[in-house]
Amino acid sequence: MRWALCLLMCLLMSMPLNAKPPWPAANSSPPAGWTGPVFQPNFDFPTEPPRAERHPWHDIDFRARPEAFLNAVLSYILEGMNTTTWDGRRNTVRQWYHAPWMHEGYKGREFIHGLTRERSSQTGELGPGQTKCYQNWAVAIANPAGAYTYGQVWGNGSALPDPRKSLFMRGTVFAKLLFTQAPASEVPLLKGSPEWEANIHDPSNVYPKGGADPCPNNRGRRFPQKVRLLQFDVAVRHNASESETGWIFGTFVYDGRIAGDIPWAKLKPVGLVWGNDPELTDAAAAAGAKPKESIVLSDFGLGRHFGRGGRMNGPIDSQHSACLSCHSTAQYQSIARMIPTAGASEKDVLCWFRNLPHGTAFGFGADSGHACGSSPATGVVSTDTSLQLAVGLKNYAHATGAHLPTGAEAVSANMRDVEAQRAAGALENWRQLSVDQRAMALERAAIDRGLLTQPIHRGDPDLTSDHFKNSEGGTQGPDG
Ligand code: HEC
Repeated sequence: MRWALCLLMCLLMSMPLNAKPPWPAANSSPPAGWTGPVFQPNFDFPTEPPRAERHPWHDIDFRARPEAFLNAVLSYILEGMNTTTWDGRRNTVRQWYHAPWMHEGYKGREFIHGLTRERSSQTGELGPGQTKCYQNWAVAIANPAGAYTYGQVWGNGSALPDPRKSLFMRGTVFAKLLFTQAPASEVPLLKGSPEWEANIHDPSNVYPKGGADPCPNNRGRRFPQKVRLLQFDVAVRHNASESETGWIFGTFVYDGRIAGDIPWAKLKPVGLVWGNDPELTDAAAAAGAKPKESIVLSDFGLGRHFGRGGRMNGPIDSQHSACLSCHSTAQYQSIARMIPTAGASEKDVLCWFRNLPHGTAFGFGADSGHACGSSPATGVVSTDTSLQLAVGLKNYAHATGAHLPTGAEAVSANMRDVEAQRAAGALENWRQLSVDQRAMALERAAIDRGLLTQPIHRGDPDLTSDHFKNSEGGTQGPDG
């Protein structure tokens, strides 16, 4: 065992400095004889903050002209992109990147397009014609500003990741393409929608007979099947003086009922959200109160609110939550549920709808005897709404057994070496386990630890690239 660890360490130490990061691309390799596309993640993160850029949404008031704001963000994402492959490395205008460590577990990245399993859509959720529960799968990409922070957090794979570096600069943009297995014959919105092949779960396993959950996330065998684009999410790190959280989340739905040949012109905005409406209770919403920090433009004829209390959210997402609420739980360690506990009091539900300034950790949710926002003695650090950072870091820590630094502790350099060695050993053991064993181990991971009282606010009211050490004075645009 000891010599094996030594061998591994020697191998790691002899890796050339410019070696590709050792993070796996997907949950499994393509089967022998596979001739289709194979997902190639872009983990080649910029090591310098990108130079100033004037973004097309800069002059658009998102409250007054939400549709124009969202369309400007969408056009920026589509610029130079091959919309068949979505290969961000080959984009001729700017590169797009992927978050590491999303391969683990039964929801982990599949090998064809790097899709991860999302919440399934229950019968009827996507319209009256939908006859059964369908799987949804998605892939997210980050622009150079976002990828710079990925690189700060993850390094090049030769040392422990550092969650404390997860703060995104203004001008960061994420996009997420969500695909459904539902067919156009049942969901008219999907007519002519861009189709991908993806290595997803056996659909016959999705509906176990007699189970309590009519639409569970099964974990059966995977094989290549067709999925169709339905939802397109965006998140923009905006000016914190205009949006308390520092972020604007927006989403589009593919509407195949629109005439025309270009599918990407059929993405129509659902709306955008810049705050959680911290005082809007379920009872008030039921009595007709409307959110003031969300703008919803359309329900696409589906006849339902997509988000809790009418807050902005997408048709694929959970109606018990909303974009910004779920994303406010992004932290290391992942100690809070993403969605309020079912049956929680109005006061406890509102714990999930606080407007946390960007960089403020969510802490514990108001459940399991914890006070809303309290933190464990081991500390907790916000990943600045990035759930891919939160999920990736959680996967990494569980897989390797490493304790990653949080705001509450400073890890000395010498301790970091010890941890890195332990992590390398644990990673090797982990590799020996089957995919199913790994998934079970990740899920079993416990989340109760001690208590602190205050969320840690590392947030700077408005972080720009000036705050990043290699910035040479350039700012990420004058942009709000
Ligand atoms: C109930 C929880 C939940 C809701 C609601 C939700 N998301 Fe997410 N989102 C996630 C999770 C978990 C991930 C990371 C895992 C993944 O991508 O599969 C994620 C990832 C993303 C990413 C990739 C960037 C990142 O790391 O955070 C974007 C962009 C995104 N979501 C946008 C949205 C938008 C826009 C909405 C509303 C229309 C939304 N999300 C609603 C849970 C949620």
